[in-house]
Amino acid sequence: MEILHTVEELRRWSRAMRAQAGATVGLVPTMGALHAGHASLIQAAVAKCGKVAVSIFVNPTQFGPHEDYARYPRTFDADCALAEAEGAHVVFAPNVDEMYPAGAATFVDVEGLSERLDGKSRPGHFRGVATVVTKLLIASEADRAYFGQKDAAQVAVLRRMVTDLRLATELVVCPIVREPDGLALSSRNIYLNAEERAKALTLSRAVRLVEMLVAAGERHTETLIAAARAVFADEPEVRVDYTELVNWDSLEPVDTAMPGSLFAVAAWVGTTRLIDNAVIG
Ligand code: PAF
Repeated sequence: MEILHTVEELRRWSRAMRAQAGATVGLVPTMGALHAGHASLIQAAVAKCGKVAVSIFVNPTQFGPHEDYARYPRTFDADCALAEAEGAHVVFAPNVDEMYPAGAATFVDVEGLSERLDGKSRPGHFRGVATVVTKLLIASEADRAYFGQKDAAQVAVLRRMVTDLRLATELVVCPIVREPDGLALSSRNIYLNAEERAKALTLSRAVRLVEMLVAAGERHTETLIAAARAVFADEPEVRVDYTELVNWDSLEPVDTAMPGSLFAVAAWVGTTRLIDNAVIG
């Protein structure tokens, strides 16, 4: 498996794969610290695309000034081993100057959506995500790009962006991968100590309860949110950021759960902010 460091190398590789092998190109954008959730994205890409690139770039512009950019886990060698084992053909690992040349002044802002859910408590976060993903899609000229449903608000922002910019890449969204006890996999789970790890299950418990209530016929947002909040009330050390039922395209709150609505939660466990969600079936 090759490791590429520049945009030019990635673009040349992508064009060569298409020209020589007639391959479709899949891209799995990541910030590294790869886990089984990322592995599932790479597997999905390998199953559908002739050639697959995994990008590993801890993107500074999507972190707020007091967030965890500096301590975000960086496990490059293990990430490359996982990407290779899952069948990726290249890893794209640029440095910050490569993605943001000196004087960089161009950003992608998906207005409205970027201020909802995580965007509300992390101002500027989705501007950073949309900017770096645009750069990655342009550089890779990927036919398909793979994202996890766990970052459901990110998915909504990127879908809007791809539509608005008329980008040629198809976005593919893969299901959340969970630990056997329900915890959604996240690179940030590594921050949790044993006690926090146990408390972190509050998020998946709330999500599961809402899914069960909907399956039993409950549709009223107020009732569903109250039930989720009650789960959090039992774990006062878990600080809720939001519990919302929204339209997955607009991220606007809805009064009634409907197929395709998104129930999403975010909460702080100690100093770690975690998210989870379910799409109403
Ligand atoms: O989901 C992530 O890991 C990041 O937000 C992404 C899409 C790789 C952009 O940096």
